[in-house]
Amino acid sequence: MRQYVLLATATILLYVSRHYSPLLAAIAFSIIGYQATDVLIPCVSPAFVKIGLYGKDLSKPGKPVIPESIGAISALVYLFIMFFYIPFLFYKYLVVITSGGGHRDVSVMESMAQEEYLFPHGKMSEYLSAVLCLQSTVLLGMADDLFDLRWRHKFFLPAVAAIPLLVVYYVDFGVTYVLIPDVVKTWFPTSKTALNLGAFYYIYMASMAIFCPNSINILAGVNGLEVGQSIVLGFISLVNDSLYLTLGTEASKEAHRFSAILIIPFLGVALALWKWNKWPAKVFVGDTFCYFAGMIFSVVGILGHFSKTTLLLFIPQTFNFAYSCPQLFGLVPCPRHRMPRFNENDGMMYPSRAELTEKPPKKVMLPVLRLLNTLRLIDIEVDAKTKQIKSCTNMTLINLVLVWFGPMREDKLCNRILTIQLAIGLLAIAARHTLGSLIYGHDNIQFL
Ligand code: UD1
Ligand code: MG
Repeated sequence: MRQYVLLATATILLYVSRHYSPLLAAIAFSIIGYQATDVLIPCVSPAFVKIGLYGKDLSKPGKPVIPESIGAISALVYLFIMFFYIPFLFYKYLVVITSGGGHRDVSVMESMAQEEYLFPHGKMSEYLSAVLCLQSTVLLGMADDLFDLRWRHKFFLPAVAAIPLLVVYYVDFGVTYVLIPDVVKTWFPTSKTALNLGAFYYIYMASMAIFCPNSINILAGVNGLEVGQSIVLGFISLVNDSLYLTLGTEASKEAHRFSAILIIPFLGVALALWKWNKWPAKVFVGDTFCYFAGMIFSVVGILGHFSKTTLLLFIPQTFNFAYSCPQLFGLVPCPRHRMPRFNENDGMMYPSRAELTEKPPKKVMLPVLRLLNTLRLIDIEVDAKTKQIKSCTNMTLINLVLVWFGPMREDKLCNRILTIQLAIGLLAIAARHTLGSLIYGHDNIQFL
């Protein structure tokens, strides 16, 4: 019954979107995406297991086997939705009368001004490059899930997937200027208002395409966390977009409408995946989903020209990445899995540890580990006789939450991390619109 009500709502929204806003069609496609993903997951999951795409749920008694890489279904549904969305997005430009020879005599919106009447090929190419980039990301993510690539190889995959986006950016927009904040201008007086970063701007965009997907992939290991953090990121982005769409300047409205158009359908497919991946997980999302979700936010930030704000939303992921660096760069041993340790006796999660007796950390890290322990940023185990460090907790935000708040059940742990992420994200957005205007001298939204 609920499905029929949802689908009827989607149909009505699709119909009325023609006269109002394409955002209504985005909500309709989000509902359709939710339904399609929710129906497809249980239907096709056994086929994934059949071809060997399954994983052990390491934090459950008996480590049951469940289908892996199911996020690929959400990603594929999303891509198809985005294809079907094109006519609704460009509805007002559809030609209804032509005298032939390619003339666009009458389009759906007859009342449009002449310059508005021209089909926005630039916008269309931007949209298609975003979809193409996401499609390449899904392909490379699938390669990782199928062949379990090494970290040193898979780390750079998203930059390869972002090539279509960067090339279209170069051809269509090509702006490589960044605004110089007012504070900098008072320290170093200059008449310039912007700085041209040239090729470095492309390196910056490629780095963002690498960072967002990988940072989601390494904040993982607890049921529901990969998809849960993506939903929270999507929600905070939408809060920010709504601020601009209601109070923003015309130029910023364009960018944030584009962001909302990509994120609303994403939330639909991600919520359906969350239903199956939340504790106790019936499926795993796989690296395909982490790359795909991360890439959505880089695409939105790059094409919307608000990549700094996008990075603000990634504060927990950035912290987790920076905190993980000693292990990622081999200064401290890094086990294959750094997820928390499950205790079968009480069903609780405890911080997992890196054993340092056989494989000691680099010498330079010994005082750092002791300092981090004093600051309660890790927990170390010291040999009573030799005073040597025997082990330390793995450096992930998940383990840190357990060090601070004590052992807890897996679902509580996931919810705690998502609540922290939501609070930080909303605070960051508030700070962006208060401190941002102090630093740059203006903000693109005008509070009454
Ligand atoms: C990243 C992390 C790794 C973490 C893993 C969990 C780094 C450098 N890598 O590796 O520490 O352990 O994600 O996804 O930080 N699994 C569960 N429960 C879950 C999610 C995953 O048991 O809720 C296990 C399953 O066995 C599953 C496997 O993790 O098969 C998936 O791991 P994978 O995504 O391949 O790990 P990485 O992304 O390489
Ligand atoms: Mg992973």
